[in-house]
Amino acid sequence: MHSFDLNSYLLSKRKQIDRAIDKKIDRTTHSSVIVSAMKYSLMAQGKRIRPILCIAASQAVGGQTEDVVGVACALEMIHTYSLIHDDLPAMDNDDLRRGKPTCHIAFDEATAILTGDALLTLAFEILSSIEPNDINDALKWLRVIKIIAIAAGYKGMIKGQIKDIASEGNPLGLEDLEQMHALKTGALIEASIITGAILGNGNFEQIEQLKIYAKNIGLAFQVVDDILNVEGDPVVMGKDVGTDQARKKSTYPSILGIEKSKEFAKNLVNNALQALDYFDNKADPLRAIAHYIVDRKK
Ligand code: IPE
Ligand code: IPE
Ligand code: MG
Ligand code: MG
Repeated sequence: MHSFDLNSYLLSKRKQIDRAIDKKIDRTTHSSVIVSAMKYSLMAQGKRIRPILCIAASQAVGGQTEDVVGVACALEMIHTYSLIHDDLPAMDNDDLRRGKPTCHIAFDEATAILTGDALLTLAFEILSSIEPNDINDALKWLRVIKIIAIAAGYKGMIKGQIKDIASEGNPLGLEDLEQMHALKTGALIEASIITGAILGNGNFEQIEQLKIYAKNIGLAFQVVDDILNVEGDPVVMGKDVGTDQARKKSTYPSILGIEKSKEFAKNLVNNALQALDYFDNKADPLRAIAHYIVDRKK
């Protein structure tokens, strides 16, 4: 475990994902505003943590990266769409994302709305364009598509976003706050890990343990996002800070305070690591990513 080099792992997986995403877009209409806007937001400096988790989960159960690259691209497109819409004036009204002006600033609001729509639908086009080897493979893919659709939709990420907007100026209790975070951010992270494990042919017990891992790091990821909004460096992060407080959002730091929030995130990561005890060294990338999630500066 100590010999595992997370930085070079993240770098090489990011490159692989970026190449794959670029290809998926290139095959569509060229030189239109919508394609420019899709590329603008997608190819900006994202961490690619969801696609990387998908790959790492598949690897943990003995799968191959090549088998999950398509899903990995689709997950990043759904995530990027959610950021474009999250930044809109009607939602968080942010000007900076991934180190660049947000999509609605660089283009305009209508284009940003449509760019999000286009990325969400393209994700499902990619997912449904897989050529299955046999009926069991086809059924496995259907299961994957359904998991992603539910996670991204009104019982998952969208439900969380609705709660987030409703919580502005209405401080949530801890239980509601946890549910909001688990939905708006945890759901897609969990789907990334579970679909990776399914496509890697993980067994029932492996997938159950990975669900525990996923729930814990998904929540931890958003707790750390809240913390970074208070004490992060906007230049490093590529997005503005202090915005949650300015909009009176319910966040972990606003409800628990910064130190308790950090402690909470660490505990979640420890729970996630415990769930990986069941796995051999093929889960080392997942182990290292769990540490990275609390230690990250962006
Ligand atoms: C930001 O996600 C929004 C959240 C759900 C916390 P990331 O922190 O993964 O953003 P990128 O993809 O690296 O830009
Ligand atoms: C983002 O939540 C969640 C989704 C986009 C689904 P935030 O609004 O807290 O994320 P940032 O801080 O803008 O990246
Ligand atoms: Mg938001
Ligand atoms: Mg936001």
